[in-house]
Amino acid sequence: MLRLFAFLLFILHSSFFTLHSQTQLPPYLDPSKDIETRVEDALSRMTLAEKISVIHAQSKFSSPGVKRLGMPDFWTDDGPHGVRPDVLWDEWEQAGQTNDSCVAFPALTCLAATWHPSLSAMYGAALGEEALYRGKAMILGPGINIYRTPLGGRNFEYMGEDPYLTSRMVVRYVQGLQSVGVASCVKHYCLNNDEEYRHQVNVIVGDRALHEIYLPGFEAAVKEGKAWGVMGAYNLYKDEHNCHNQYTLGKILKQDWGFDGVVVSDWGGAHDLDQAVKNGLDMEFGTWTDGLTMGATNAYDMYYLSKQYQKAILDGKYTTKELDEKVRRVLRLFFRTTMNKKKPYGFLCSEEHYLTAQLVAREGIVLLQNERNVLPIQAEGKKILVVGENAIKMMTVGGGSSSLKAQHEISPLQGLQEHLKGSDCQIEYARGYVGDTSGNYNGVTTGQNLKDDRTPEELIAEAVEKAKTADYVVIFGGLNKSDYQDCEGHDRKTMDLPYNQEKLITAIADVNKNTIYVNISGNAVSMPWRKQVPAIVQGWFLGSEAGIALAAILLGDVSPSGHLPFTWYESLDQCGAHSFGEAAFPGIWREGKKIIDEEYKEGIYVGYRWTDKQKLKPAFAFGHGLSYTTFKVSNLRCAFNETTDGNMTFKVDVTNTGDRPGADVVQLYITDVKCSVDRPVKELKAFQKVILKPGETQTLTLNTDKRALSFWDETTGDWKAEPGDFIAWAGDASDRLTCKVKFTLK
Ligand code: BGC
Repeated sequence: MLRLFAFLLFILHSSFFTLHSQTQLPPYLDPSKDIETRVEDALSRMTLAEKISVIHAQSKFSSPGVKRLGMPDFWTDDGPHGVRPDVLWDEWEQAGQTNDSCVAFPALTCLAATWHPSLSAMYGAALGEEALYRGKAMILGPGINIYRTPLGGRNFEYMGEDPYLTSRMVVRYVQGLQSVGVASCVKHYCLNNDEEYRHQVNVIVGDRALHEIYLPGFEAAVKEGKAWGVMGAYNLYKDEHNCHNQYTLGKILKQDWGFDGVVVSDWGGAHDLDQAVKNGLDMEFGTWTDGLTMGATNAYDMYYLSKQYQKAILDGKYTTKELDEKVRRVLRLFFRTTMNKKKPYGFLCSEEHYLTAQLVAREGIVLLQNERNVLPIQAEGKKILVVGENAIKMMTVGGGSSSLKAQHEISPLQGLQEHLKGSDCQIEYARGYVGDTSGNYNGVTTGQNLKDDRTPEELIAEAVEKAKTADYVVIFGGLNKSDYQDCEGHDRKTMDLPYNQEKLITAIADVNKNTIYVNISGNAVSMPWRKQVPAIVQGWFLGSEAGIALAAILLGDVSPSGHLPFTWYESLDQCGAHSFGEAAFPGIWREGKKIIDEEYKEGIYVGYRWTDKQKLKPAFAFGHGLSYTTFKVSNLRCAFNETTDGNMTFKVDVTNTGDRPGADVVQLYITDVKCSVDRPVKELKAFQKVILKPGETQTLTLNTDKRALSFWDETTGDWKAEPGDFIAWAGDASDRLTCKVKFTLK
């Protein structure tokens, strides 16, 4: 009997395989076919309802695939510093999973401060592996809006003020992420440079500034990085919302740059059916379910690219031309991600991911000032007083959509304690100030009890008393991702440090000459006291490994090698955006208070381009960053001092002139000596980070092309390099350019 059963099973089994091997896979399922053939085949099999369903969300972070055709749901998630914890199907509250604690990578300002594109690729790939494990096909990031003002609430999620630095970093992030089969969704395209009125602000900006400053990062992400997704921004440009903007999406992104991926709306960023149909939007996602502000039971059916679009097609208002074009892009995305059977497995919280987070943090921390070489701390037999809420506060929770549920986060105080465990160095702690003690974002809580009811005076008095007998005082202050302190949804109200920190810092510096201030933030803060404090470090939001990386730098295991990705103004009046009154920031409300016009009157003069033009000396210049060793950048030269096609190869020597190993960032800027239009004094056009042993010299090769010599010609609507003389400068900060060479474009 058993033998008969086995025999029957054998017959069944073999006939199944014969049958199956004879069945031909439909082209859309055949991985040997090229993607475009698969897309067209799948498209031809889809019903109208199926087409409509794939172009809008079905939950907070997913859209349906096409089940009938074997295409799974499409899951996306924030971004950009780690994979956001799962939220409930249609609520922002976390779902309470126990398998979604991730590695928190350093915020993107820190990544930019590494000036190390290969690290950006590692970051993207590690994040992609975490996303794969979590079943996410697309990460909502990276964010690359330009740092126009230090008040910008989301600057910490972006890559600084310079379009060239941003471009080099974003390309590798996108490539890294997509190399493991996870789509990037580069955001927020475009001109979303402040937060306060992000849904109402209509940006007015000249074409030169648009093309020279605000678009290059996106252009590089699309053309070189081959990004599979781009997120439209909330704000308006030319009176159209950027989630369905004919000029920025239809013309520039899709037509001029040839973008073949999907345009995803920012959450609830679609506002009009006709524009959503015609102006370049491909997938509508949303905050709340009527696409705008409120929950509704029939939820996602109320989106613009949902039932109302379907009805409009059936009523003959639209043909399926636009729809098919959207669906083609969505299908292409499916074949690149969810339908890609070759993608690797994911990992969550692997050693490599932590190592990547740590490396980025270590390489991004910037030593801003180091009088009398107070740093690195000589800890042997000494007493170190650690002060400040930011020494103990978890920073991975908060800040808006980039908030994370980190598997662990090592605070600066823990990092120092861990590092010095077993040594004869004594560490003490004083709170110093109380900032925000809440520590909760959408149901993810830090579990920390930071409550302290003492008055600011009492807190300062305690810290000062302890500082008197300490060999070193390390104050961890800055911002903290609470509302108005580097957080989505609002801009900062001032550039000043909050919570009485100035008083605290100066009171401590008065009694201890070895005071070190570590600023935790994604933005510059004003430091009128900076001459009173010998050492200042920019410590960003560093993620899971924050404390380890900070201890390694402060205690001298590694020399700092981060360089500023933005200009650190003394005060707001050194910033172009704040030099033209309200009209330029935050803008002026139109009648009816529905739209606020913000005119970028400083034009192309953003960051160092502005301070150079106005001959202002910022607190710390763009590209600035010290080390525990010293470097000399010299002998910039080019083989031919003439070019006809604009391609140039420069050589420059860099020497470690100190007695410790370290890494320098060699930066190349170009000046157009004479031009028919006003041009910046100089602009960054190449850079390279290099590690050098004491006494070692390396010769670096830096290449530039015609774009490096060009400006956006508003009369022709194209790039133009005018023949004539140019100067290339090299050095290791925008205000420390130690050699130059002249060349001519014929
Ligand atoms: C943010 C996006 C984010 C999205 C989803 C929006 O409010 O602007 O950056 O990706 O929410 O969380």
